Amino acid sequence: MFNQIVLLCRPGFEKECAGEIMELASEHQFPAYIQTKETSGYVLLISSSELGTNELISKIDFRQLIFTRQWFACNKDILSLPETNRLPDILHTIKLFAEDFYDVELDYPDTNEGKSLSKFCKQFRPHLITALKKNNLLSAHARWRLHLFFTDSLNVMIGIAPIDNSASDAMGIIRLKMPGKAPSRSTLKLEEAIHWFLSTQQQTELIKNGMNVVDLGAAPGGWTWQFVRRDCLVTAIDNGPMDETLMKTGMVEHLRTDAFTYAPKKKVDWLVCDMAERPLHVSRLIARWFSSQQCSNAIFNLKLPMKKRLSSVQECIALLEYTLTQANIKHNIQAKHLYHDREEITVCIVCP
Ligand SMILES: C[S@@+](CC[C@H](N)C(=O)[O-])C[C@H]1O[C@@H](n2cnc3c(N)ncnc32)[C@H](O)[C@@H]1O
Repeated sequence: MFNQIVLLCRPGFEKECAGEIMELASEHQFPAYIQTKETSGYVLLISSSELGTNELISKIDFRQLIFTRQWFACNKDILSLPETNRLPDILHTIKLFAEDFYDVELDYPDTNEGKSLSKFCKQFRPHLITALKKNNLLSAHARWRLHLFFTDSLNVMIGIAPIDNSASDAMGIIRLKMPGKAPSRSTLKLEEAIHWFLSTQQQTELIKNGMNVVDLGAAPGGWTWQFVRRDCLVTAIDNGPMDETLMKTGMVEHLRTDAFTYAPKKKVDWLVCDMAERPLHVSRLIARWFSSQQCSNAIFNLKLPMKKRLSSVQECIALLEYTLTQANIKHNIQAKHLYHDREEITVCIVCP
């Protein structure tokens, strides 16, 4: 039984990550407290009763957590390792779990010091896998992933995460290459959002050849480009200039007008929006598009330059939930602080 959950987040967002998990733990009547350091890139939720965190990590839906990239349950103790031959101590701890594992993930905080561990983790991983195999600790039928979270190369927290209720990409980071032809780096935000929010089947069913998309605040066109490469027709709303090569595809209509007053002639398949505007202002705009039947699905950013980021996000999501429910629209709202998001989160609304 474990007494702690480690939650990885973007450095600087520990307060939001902690606030969210504490709310959910208390919804599950799980007494706990938080330990964290500003800009450390991780948060510890520690059980303050006899209740173990193995169960809690299976009960809370990982996808409800906006600010957590990855998580695992473990014990409060940090294992100190020798400078050489670290494997025996690690294996000893792992064997005490009396479990086998589907996979193993080597984690470290997403900080400058943390990143210096990436090479060490890459080199250590094959040795660990060989040792796990030799000890029959890996199994294709197991439901847990083994996690080794290095705070430095001599200190590690070892724990487990349910493979069906955690991020499948290491440290919750979907690795994407910047597409050479995309007009801006923002393109990666939308690509990551599509991968995170939509299953492979949804990606092919919901983003299809000839579908209509409106991109509010589109210039220079990184988000538009993602839909064009999926053969969709995009109306790009922005007073600024769009990328010339993208315009030459003939798939984009550029309207130099205000995103807050523009209305489409008929309902579009996707509304996307990436404007540096107040989050509540953007949420009201998106809610209006849905309630007046102007779009079927949406992906948009909520910028969070304010201090009370978590309550601001919760207010926006509550407004969207309320408006769509009042309009009798079946919907699924998901939100995530994606790897490519900085002071913002991304929201996806899909209406089945
Ligand atoms: C962050 S950029 C968008 C980047 C774009 N998603 C991309 O991938 O290239 C924000 C854009 O929103 C536009 N914008 C801001 N307020 C707007 C408004 N009220 N109406 C139309 N465009 C607006 C700005 O001109 C700017 O080009």
